[in-house]
Amino acid sequence: MIYLAILGRQPEISLAELKALYKDVKQISPVLATFSSSKELNDFSRLGGTLKVAIKLNQKPLDYLATLPKGKITIGISDYSTHASRQTATSLALKLKKILVRHGRSVRVVANKEAALSTATSLHNGLSGANERKAEFIKVNSDWYRTVFIQDIESYAARDQGRPARDAKVGMLPPKLAQILINLCGLLPKGATILDPFCGTGVILQESLLMGYHPYGTDLSDRMVDYSKKNLKWLQKNFTAEHEQTTNLPSDLAEQSVFVGDATTFKWQTPIDAIACECYLGSPMSQIPSELKLKAQKQECSDIILSFLKNLATQITPKTPVTIAVPAWLRENNEYSRLNIIDEIEKLGYNVNNKTREGLLYCRKGQIVARDILILRKK
Ligand SMILES: C[S@@+](CC[C@H](N)C(=O)[O-])C[C@H]1O[C@@H](n2cnc3c(N)ncnc32)[C@H](O)[C@@H]1O
Repeated sequence: MIYLAILGRQPEISLAELKALYKDVKQISPVLATFSSSKELNDFSRLGGTLKVAIKLNQKPLDYLATLPKGKITIGISDYSTHASRQTATSLALKLKKILVRHGRSVRVVANKEAALSTATSLHNGLSGANERKAEFIKVNSDWYRTVFIQDIESYAARDQGRPARDAKVGMLPPKLAQILINLCGLLPKGATILDPFCGTGVILQESLLMGYHPYGTDLSDRMVDYSKKNLKWLQKNFTAEHEQTTNLPSDLAEQSVFVGDATTFKWQTPIDAIACECYLGSPMSQIPSELKLKAQKQECSDIILSFLKNLATQITPKTPVTIAVPAWLRENNEYSRLNIIDEIEKLGYNVNNKTREGLLYCRKGQIVARDILILRKK
């Protein structure tokens, strides 16, 4: 089955996430990729970097709509063709409506503010594919697709802002980025153990649980371990019922899964199937650091990251995937200064998949400390 992905705000990261899970991933424009998927992997809610997924139609939208049972139809058009505009999308939608009305159907068209409908507009108009009479058609030159998944903005906000234990100082990892870090480890069997040795408030643990994996977290700080436990318990109570892969979990899962431990010396329980984490990112910063401060921060972060990887290397089996977000700092020239640790990491017994590190820098415009994603595998 051929699918189309509308890539998120940082397309290179979205693309890397798709490539880690699916076959035949091909970028067809700056914001679009096609891929093929099996049934096993068509729960697209695990994708943090993809805004919408659509399925390729082997008929025109009109032919698809003509097969629908009686009743009101809602249609939306998103045009991603080379010369797309709001006008072309609107006239395509109105043309469709005209023909359908002539055939006695009642039709509502979702208005285009731009050539493509935003995720929020598609979602709020129920165009996620769950109701066959509410359809979003996506045009890419001569090809047509129908939306079958839209990222649930509200669920992300609830999972993020609704958590009972939050701490602005440790930096709040967005749930979407937590999903990306986990997915960059590749497809793992259901129930696989994902370790986060810098678990903080537990965002990666939460998202691992929702994906049907077993979360395992450690952190140096007692307070963070308490926060992670609280948040996991809350998630289990409020969210897991919607996710069939998380049924029959033990009621003391949080107690069994999170522990205090220094990542540079801790002996974890094995086996560990994958490691996904956001390491220590240095001190929180509200302005660009001086050269002196940057040097000290780089030294401190490199020491912790390399000692952690050295400790981990003796405890995992060859080929175990390790995805880590490490800090990079904004400089006056608007570029980010990264940690120079790739050679050291290789010497510790890891292959670095993204050595050139092109594009895998996760940040919002002007953010002082960005997250630089490293994709490793134990040799
Ligand atoms: C950037 S935060 C991670 C935030 C986390 N992703 C979350 O969801 O809240 C880094 C965490 O690393 C922890 N930490 C720092 N040094 C550590 C060490 N040597 N071993 C284990 N944890 C450490 C801090 O306590 C902090 O919670």
